[in-house]
Amino acid sequence: MTQTQQNALQKIKERRTVVGVIGLGYVGLPLAIAFVEAGFRVVGLDLDQGRVEAINRGESYVEDIPSAILSRYLAKNKSGQGLSATTDYTVLRQTDAVIVCVPTPLNKTKDPELSFLLSAADRIAQHLHPGMLVVLESTTYPGTTEELILPLLQYTNQQAFKVGSDFFLAFSPERIDPGRKDWTVHTTPKIIGGMTPACLEVAQALYGCAIEQVVPVSSPRVAEMVKLLENTFRAVNIALVNEVAIMCDRLGIEVWEVIEAARTKPFGFMPFYPGPGLGGHCIPIDPEYLAWKLKTLNYNARFIQLAAEINFGMPHYVLGKIVDALNDDGKAVKGARILILGVAYKADIGDLRESPALDLIHLLQAKGAKVSYHDPYVPQLDQDDIVMTGATLDQSVLEQADCVVITTAHSSYDWEWVVKNSQLVVDTRNATQGVIGSSGRVVKL
Ligand SMILES: NC(=O)c1ccc[n+]([C@@H]2O[C@H](COP(=O)([O-])OP(=O)(O)OC[C@H]3O[C@@H](n4cnc5c(N)ncnc54)[C@H](O)[C@@H]3O)[C@@H](O)[C@H]2O)c1
Repeated sequence: MTQTQQNALQKIKERRTVVGVIGLGYVGLPLAIAFVEAGFRVVGLDLDQGRVEAINRGESYVEDIPSAILSRYLAKNKSGQGLSATTDYTVLRQTDAVIVCVPTPLNKTKDPELSFLLSAADRIAQHLHPGMLVVLESTTYPGTTEELILPLLQYTNQQAFKVGSDFFLAFSPERIDPGRKDWTVHTTPKIIGGMTPACLEVAQALYGCAIEQVVPVSSPRVAEMVKLLENTFRAVNIALVNEVAIMCDRLGIEVWEVIEAARTKPFGFMPFYPGPGLGGHCIPIDPEYLAWKLKTLNYNARFIQLAAEINFGMPHYVLGKIVDALNDDGKAVKGARILILGVAYKADIGDLRESPALDLIHLLQAKGAKVSYHDPYVPQLDQDDIVMTGATLDQSVLEQADCVVITTAHSSYDWEWVVKNSQLVVDTRNATQGVIGSSGRVVKL
């Protein structure tokens, strides 16, 4: 073991390691807090001045981190511990470990958009120093750490840094599910793949202080693939169940009843649920990273392609349901007042990224419907060319709507009250299951 590695491990053990977290969003902020809770000083870096100022004021913009918790950990900072945030990358000179949690979206042609990641890596390279640990958490295709990031870090400032002895590099995919209470950053096992055994050992030592179970794998490439397998598994199974919903509809069977009965099988079946389409920064995007990489190797990722086709077709399918339901009431979609309940991509958070509700709003507006929305987490909508203020959800708003569409089943909604006061409900989430008097008024997926 080199002296550099020994020093890095000793610093971690004594909690003297200063941890930098780049990108303070849904992933970065909870992770930064987890390291503060484990006893480290954490410096958060984000290009968004507004976010940095909010953090330093103790105001959280991530639902999983209440402002009270954030404030508590900032207060500690006066004694040198705790969390502080900045936009200034020179702070990396004071850090011993840096964890990258920047976005990895798709560009307009659906290819990986790695500019955030590359720009962060470039800035790290400018401040790389002996003993530094660099960990990527952003989801990306297998090979990114080794093929793109390592070369940027190895030769910086006219100096050659050797990975595994001068600095340490690893990939550790973030697996948190925002809004989830049963599995947290602390309790969700963490996969880590190091560029060398020494890289793995240092990364494992650091994460082991904050996370209950660390799962080492043989390389960053494997760790990158683990994350893509997990999310491709979800995308494909959601597509399967979405198609089953369409098939059940043709067969005159309620898909929700079928799934509930099937899930009583104690082995060999895992329930997935249909819905208005895929949303969020992960499931609709991550499989495309894998498909893109395979395309460069002349391989067509057929499951991913088919799943995307079905999942992205769901807003159109829901539109058909709304049109038919209105037709049954003797109404046209053109001019109909449609109230969308929930625009976030999933329940109990305000994340709008890739939300299928936005696609549905576009489709309804294109047909001439008068669309309004309500979402307790999204008072104002300014996304994907949709600019709207959320409606006040009261009895008259429900009564006046020709159709109320449940797109996100936030737990704060009183579904019985919604059904009782609405002329017609199209429920894409089975939120109204068990609501008395729902038959006849509620159309399900
Ligand atoms: N959101 C999830 O549920 C989730 C779960 C697991 C993994 N991931 C992955 O984690 C990564 C981050 O996702 P997120 O949801 O936290 O994104 P986010 O958009 O919530 O946060 C990213 C933050 O990075 C900042 N940023 C962008 N470029 C930067 C740069 N060069 N330097 C410093 N800051 C920069 C942005 O201003 C933003 O605050 C993505 O790769 C995503 O696929 C997300």
